[in-house]
Amino acid sequence: MKIFLSGVSGAMGRVIAEMVAEKGQDSIVAGFDKAQPQRDFTVYQSLENVTEDFDVIIDFSHFSVFDSILKLALEKKKPLVMATTGLSDQQNKALAEAAKQIPVFQSANMSLGINLMANALKVVAPLLVENGFDIEIIEKHHRKKVDAPSGTAFLLRDALNDVLSSKKDSIFGRHGKEEKRRDEIGIHAVRGGTIPGEHLVLFAGEDELFEIKHNALSKKVFAQGALSAAAYLTAQQPGLYDMDHLIAGN
Ligand SMILES: NC(=O)c1ccc[n+]([C@@H]2O[C@H](COP(=O)([O-])OP(=O)(O)OC[C@H]3O[C@@H](n4cnc5c(N)ncnc54)[C@H](O)[C@@H]3O)[C@@H](O)[C@H]2O)c1
Repeated sequence: MKIFLSGVSGAMGRVIAEMVAEKGQDSIVAGFDKAQPQRDFTVYQSLENVTEDFDVIIDFSHFSVFDSILKLALEKKKPLVMATTGLSDQQNKALAEAAKQIPVFQSANMSLGINLMANALKVVAPLLVENGFDIEIIEKHHRKKVDAPSGTAFLLRDALNDVLSSKKDSIFGRHGKEEKRRDEIGIHAVRGGTIPGEHLVLFAGEDELFEIKHNALSKKVFAQGALSAAAYLTAQQPGLYDMDHLIAGN
């Protein structure tokens, strides 16, 4: 697989580049980043004149460069793995529209565990909520993360709302709220140190707590997931794919 890696100089980009080099099966033929460390392939700062031939784009960059990445994928008619989080509703719509022409893989969390966690939540949440349990989502990430709450917190919230008989509004922290808890999902973002990513869903009932937690111990789980998604995507027809497709496909 010949990979075009967007965000190649970032934390995730570096882990993917190392993993690709270690495994020796695939290659990164070019990248995109405003930061330009020495590499043995071209790192573009603008995507107007990309000359390399590649099989797939993997994007771990920033939502502000979404338009130019999508344009490159559509111009070259190549599959796109969109791992960047914090996209706007409009950007998500543009991605779904592009999926009519090219294969697109999107997941706010490329780890197997989080996606199994979302499926597990769908099983337990209806029964717990029927029995009066409240839901809170607490996520923890490293000090450099720029979006909050995490895309994964939204992924888990959406998985819960998919199966609850009445959808719950989200509340982000409760600073300044002088009122008791409503029928809502509380979402809380903690930032510090080098935490790769922890997500806890707490169901709090009468005298009983039930928690499901996922802890990514390094960024390698996301890198491995993105590479598996890229390999999967190169064999697919145009369409919008996610981790459920990948898990079912394997
Ligand atoms: N889907 C997942 O599983 C998953 C996992 C981890 C991170 N992420 C997401 O991936 C993205 C990147 O994460 P990271 O931890 O590597 O962040 P990072 O800040 O370390 O890296 C981002 C890279 O993008 C580059 N960049 C930013 N703005 C740019 C611009 N205007 N033009 C060109 N390059 C630009 C930066 O120079 C940097 O090298 C974030 O959105 C993060 O939330 C997703």
